[in-house]
Amino acid sequence: MAGGAVRDRLADALLRAHAEQRLSVDFPYSKDMYPQTHQARRAEFGAQLYGALGIGLDDHAARAAYDAESLRFYGAPHVAFLFVTGDGGPRLAADVGAYMQTLLLAMTAYGVDSCLQGLLSFYADTIRAQLGITTGKLLVGISFGYADDAAPVNQITTGRATLETTTAFHGRHSGGLP
Ligand SMILES: Cc1cc2nc3c(=O)[nH]c(=O)nc-3n(C[C@H](O)[C@H](O)[C@H](O)COP(=O)(O)O)c2cc1C
Repeated sequence: MAGGAVRDRLADALLRAHAEQRLSVDFPYSKDMYPQTHQARRAEFGAQLYGALGIGLDDHAARAAYDAESLRFYGAPHVAFLFVTGDGGPRLAADVGAYMQTLLLAMTAYGVDSCLQGLLSFYADTIRAQLGITTGKLLVGISFGYADDAAPVNQITTGRATLETTTAFHGRHSGGLP
């Protein structure tokens, strides 16, 4: 976790790495990894997000500038990084994913707002160097603090798929608790 002056130095280092195109990723990423259903949900959310920000979908320069600015953690005072240790494989990433969701829920329970930032994992070496981390693979960053409720970006709410579309029920299902 980083806050205070360390957080500020880290943000500067990330922007430098971005300007110099020094990307380093521990877990490979491809947009093609998402199934069609998830691609469609991402596109829908993207349209909502950039709509709220007043950025046209084809305005690649404005979108790139917004992404770069996110390296300052969207102004959040703290950022946490989740590293996968052990053999660093997908099965252990699942454990870290469960930890991450619990952390996010705990923050919410304490009234702390958060934003998962997969983008930060594209600068794994910079983050390692700045924080003196020597083990593990960087899965994701989480910026957190108190949200600015007046910000346009915070006026949008991510949709949720219905239970029926995400879950296949086998055997007896009464639709409610027994
Ligand atoms: C694994 C993962 C990585 C994400 N990476 C980013 C990111 O790099 N930048 C960003 O602005 N949003 C990113 N998001 C989306 C935001 O965190 C998004 O606002 C959030 O998932 C919405 O959460 P909510 O539906 O609970 O409001 C990511 C989401 C997930 C699940």
